[in-house]
Order: sequence, then structure tokens, then C-alpha cells
Amino acid sequence: MADRIIASSAPEWRDAAREMLAASLPDATIEPEGDDLLAIAAEGLSIADVAEIVRGDRIPFVRHLFREVGQVTLFGRQPVGGAVDAIVDTLLALPVPLPPMASLQVWASGTVETIFRPDELRRELETSLSETGFRIERAGMPQVLSACIVGDHVLLGLNGVASALSDWPGGRVRLAKPSGQVSRSEFKLEEIFRTTDLPLPHGGIALDLGASPGGWTRILRGHGFEVVAVDPADLDSRLRRDAGIRHVRSTAAPYLAESRRAFDLIVNDMRMDPAMSVGLMVEASRHLKPGGVMIVTLKLSRHGAVAAVRAALARLDTVVEVELARQLHHNRDEVTVVGRKPA
Ligand SMILES: C[S@@+](CC[C@H](N)C(=O)[O-])C[C@H]1O[C@@H](n2cnc3c(N)ncnc32)[C@H](O)[C@@H]1O
Repeated sequence: MADRIIASSAPEWRDAAREMLAASLPDATIEPEGDDLLAIAAEGLSIADVAEIVRGDRIPFVRHLFREVGQVTLFGRQPVGGAVDAIVDTLLALPVPLPPMASLQVWASGTVETIFRPDELRRELETSLSETGFRIERAGMPQVLSACIVGDHVLLGLNGVASALSDWPGGRVRLAKPSGQVSRSEFKLEEIFRTTDLPLPHGGIALDLGASPGGWTRILRGHGFEVVAVDPADLDSRLRRDAGIRHVRSTAAPYLAESRRAFDLIVNDMRMDPAMSVGLMVEASRHLKPGGVMIVTLKLSRHGAVAAVRAALARLDTVVEVELARQLHHNRDEVTVVGRKPA
């Protein structure tokens, strides 16, 4: 039987992920496995192949991948110890030996029937595997061991981190709320800075389109940028006295038409139709320095989202090299795109 590759998405966007995967993998079977999971199988298809397709064909709704190596059924109200023993026995009986060191990622998909929490299972599994001689970390290892609780069973995974798309359990990035946070939108931009290995500019001058109340502007200041913040609405009072921020009380189009400035980074979190937003980013690209980066969140409606994303990416391709198109953990009905202007 072919290996199953398990893909995570947001629950609401699982069907969009499936539609795009099916278009790229016409010979694969792709079935829902949980609220936020799809199981992909085709003869000879590896997790590296799927990761390459997700990146190359720009399937933004897939957040995370793992290669299934086994399953353990949880019986009734089984205590955590019994689950750990069954999981460790299954892992030690794999045809290929476990790597001497690995990240261990444990999470639950949807509502589960266990009497223990995923973090308890992780802790006990780490103890048991460490006692057996393995080095276990939370993240940062070349190999990832996964245990995803789905309904009454645990899917076990083992694969290289490079094919996982994300080094967080199920792609669920957890960022602590920083003191002084101006808006929850901050998490979206911080997720890009903290969890991708894209070479992003640090410092220089940034343009924040649709900046109010100023969360992204605050994050950009933290990364050393001077910021031109464009929005007809107010910025948070905590930002008003910062000499590194210039608030332009305008909509984006007139600012872009009149300004002569060139920026290292242009970001756009404006609440508007993706085609309009991308149209403004095409205009904005004229204000990017060579090698400069743009980051835009495309706000999607459920109807026609796949076509809207494809059209947006095709249009952005005309002005930048798109380096990432992903529904981040902190995106809701959105996809974030990062593009770089050729040097
Ligand atoms: C989701 S909020 C941005 C939140 C911001 N990124 C933050 O972290 O605080 C969207 C903003 O886009 C602004 N906006 C919508 N249309 C705009 C336009 N045409 N030009 C400039 N800003 C616009 C709205 O006024 C609103 O403040």
C-alpha cells in the first residue's frame, strides 16, 4: 500500500486545499481524515513530492504535512500510560529504525475522545522515548515524529522537517501576546518574520498600507524600519509620538500616485477584494527598491476563493517573484503572499 501523506489546513479551508491538491495530483486519492486533515495517497508519491507541489503550485491552504507510519487505536477511556506504551511499541517496531534524535510534535485534530490532553501525551511520550535512549526536542531537529489524535485513534508520522512545511505541530504556530500589542493582526506579520526562512529586509524604510490601528506598524518598528503608515483612520495613541512613524491620513491609491519614495518593504493588510488589493500592489511595486519585498494579505470570501487566489498570484507574478503563498496559522479567511522585486 502507498504511504499516506497527511496534510493539515484550517477546517473551513480543507475543501479548498483538497480542490487544489486534486488539480495538481490527478492520480492521487485525497480523502478527508479529520476536520482539518486530508490523507493523500498515490503509488510512489513521497512527502517530498507533495511538499514540492504545495510550494511550486502554490497551494496556500496546506499548512503542514507528515508521512504516516502507523496508527494506534485508543480504547474507551484509556489512560495516557496505555496510549504511550502502544505508541512506543508501534514506533519501535517500524521497519526502519527511529532516528537517534527528533522533534516530537503532538496535537489533536477536531474534537477528540481521549481523557488526556495532547500536552500530557507529549510529556509522557517524551519521557518514555528519552528513557529508551532517544533525544527528543520540541522543534529544531532534522526529523519530526508526529502523533496526531483524531477521534479514537492516533496517527503517527515520521519525516524530515524540510518536507513538513512548518516546524510546529500541525502547522499551529503559537506566539505569546507581546506587551504593548496594538492589534491581533500583529500575529500575522510576526508569524512571517519568526517562522519562515525567507531573507526579509531588516531595517530601512517600510510602507504600511491600511495601517490603522497600527499593529503591523508597531511590528515593523520592532524590526528596525522607519514606517510610512497610510490609512484614513487613526493610529493607536501609543504610536503617535514615535518619530520613526509618519502617518499619512489617506487611502492607498492617491498616496501611491503622488509619492516619489522608494521602500525596502511594502505591506498591505487592507480589508478589500483581492483583485483590488493586488491591483494596488502592482502600483505599489513601482515604489519597491530592487530586491525589496512586499507582503500582502488577500482577504477571501468562501465563494470562488481558489480562482481568486490563482488570479491574484498570476497578477503578482508580473511584478515580483512570489516566494510564499500560505494561509498562516494566524490568518482567518485570508492568504498571505510574500513577493520580491527582482534585483
Ligand atoms: C485589518 S485593518 C489593518 C490592521 C493593521 N494591519 C494592524 O495590524 O493594526 C484594515 C485597515 O485597512 C484600511 N483600509 C481599507 N481600505 C483602505 C484604502 N483604500 N486605503 C488605505 N487604507 C484602507 C482600513 O481603514 C483599516 O484600518
